Amino acid sequence: MAAFRARFARDPRRIAAAPGRVNLIGEHTDYNDGFVLPIAIDRRTVVCIDWSPDSTSHIHAADLNASVDLPALNSLRPDASINIKVDADAARIRTGSWVSYAAGVLANLAAIVPPLAARGVDLTIASSVPLGSGLSSSASLEVGVATAAAALAGASITPRDLAALCRDAEHRFAGVPCGIMDQYIAAMGRHDHALLIDCRTQAAELVAMPGADRAEVVVMDSRVKHALASGQYAERRETCRAACRVMGIDSLRDASPELLTLHAPGARSPATLSPVEHARARHIISENARTLAAAQALRAGDLEEVGRLMLASHASLREHYQVSCPELDTLVELAAQVPGVFGARMTGGGFGGCAIALATPHAADRLVREIPAAYRARHALPHGLDARVFVTTACDGASVIA
Ligand code: GLA
Repeated sequence: MAAFRARFARDPRRIAAAPGRVNLIGEHTDYNDGFVLPIAIDRRTVVCIDWSPDSTSHIHAADLNASVDLPALNSLRPDASINIKVDADAARIRTGSWVSYAAGVLANLAAIVPPLAARGVDLTIASSVPLGSGLSSSASLEVGVATAAAALAGASITPRDLAALCRDAEHRFAGVPCGIMDQYIAAMGRHDHALLIDCRTQAAELVAMPGADRAEVVVMDSRVKHALASGQYAERRETCRAACRVMGIDSLRDASPELLTLHAPGARSPATLSPVEHARARHIISENARTLAAAQALRAGDLEEVGRLMLASHASLREHYQVSCPELDTLVELAAQVPGVFGARMTGGGFGGCAIALATPHAADRLVREIPAAYRARHALPHGLDARVFVTTACDGASVIA
C-alpha cells in the first residue's frame, strides 16, 4: 500500500495477495501427470493495482526498486520483440525476469478480459517470499498479479483457470517449462491443510496438517542456486518424455515397476531404456507411490511414516533423479540427526533452494537455532550468508484483500 502511494500518489483500487509454497512430497511428478502434496506458506506477494490514466501500464517492483512501462496489454507478445521501458532504458522482455512473469500474466488476462485489453494498469509488487529460493516466489507473483488484475476488471475466474493462465504465462513469457503445482497451490492453498493434487485430472483433496503441538514444518534455505537449474529442469522433462516413448505410454503416471522391469537396460524387450531414462522413471514411479502413502499417513496421524517417506523421497531425488546438491544433502542430513525430526527432504526443483523438515515443536526450535552454524561449518557461503531457517504453517491461497 505504502509503495503504491509513494509511486502513484493515490490509493490503489484493489489489493490482492498470493503465497509461496513448500512441497511436502511429490517432486518432479507434476509434469509427469502425477501426485504432489504442497502447502501454501505464510510468505506472500502483495499486489496493489488501479487503472492507469491511459493504455500504458506502469509496474513497480518495490523490493527491487525497479519499474517498467508496458504498452497496451493486448499487444504484449512472448517473443520479446516489443520494446518496454525498464526504468530509464528501453529494454526487452527478458526471459525469466520478473517483468516476464508480470507481463505474461497481464497479457494472458487481457486476451480474455476485455477491459484489460482496452486500458492499462498501475501496479506495485512487494513480496515476503525470498526471491529465487525455490519457495515459488515466481508463482506467487504471477497468481498475485492475476488475482489483483481480475478483481480490478471485475472478472470472475476460477482459481483453477487462474492457475492454468499463470502457468501458461510462465511457459511462454518466462520460458520456464514448469508443471502446475506452484500456481495451483498459490491459488488454492488452504489454512492448516496440505493439498493432494492429482496433476492429471487437476482434482485436489484437502489433507489436514498435524496440529502445531505435534509437528511443525521447518524451511531450511541453503542460500545457493546452482546455475544449471533451469537447463537441467528442461532436460529432466525431456528424458521423462523419452522414457515414455520407449515404454509406449503417454506419461510416466501410467508406468509401473513391472513395466519398468520389462524395459530395463539389458532386458530382452525390443525397446529398452537407457540407464539414465531408467533411473529417472524409477524416481517418478516410486515418488508417486510415496506421495499417495504420505497423504494416507498424514490422514492417519502417522508422522513417523510421513518422515520416513520424506527421507526416501530425498534419497531418490539425490540418487535416481539427480536434482539435489551437496548443500541440500547437508541440510537434510543435519536435520535428520536431530531427535524429534520425523523426516526431511529437498523441496521444489532442486540444485539449491530449500530443504524442509517435519519436526516436533521442540526439535523445530533446535533446527532454527542450530542448523545455521552446523551448515556454515560444512559450506562456506558467499558474502558471509548463513542458511535461513524458519518455521512455517499451511496458509490460504490467493485472495483479494481490499
Ligand atoms: C518447480 C516447478 C514445479 C515442479 C517442481 C518440482 O518448482 O515450478 O512445477 O515441477 O519444480 O517438483
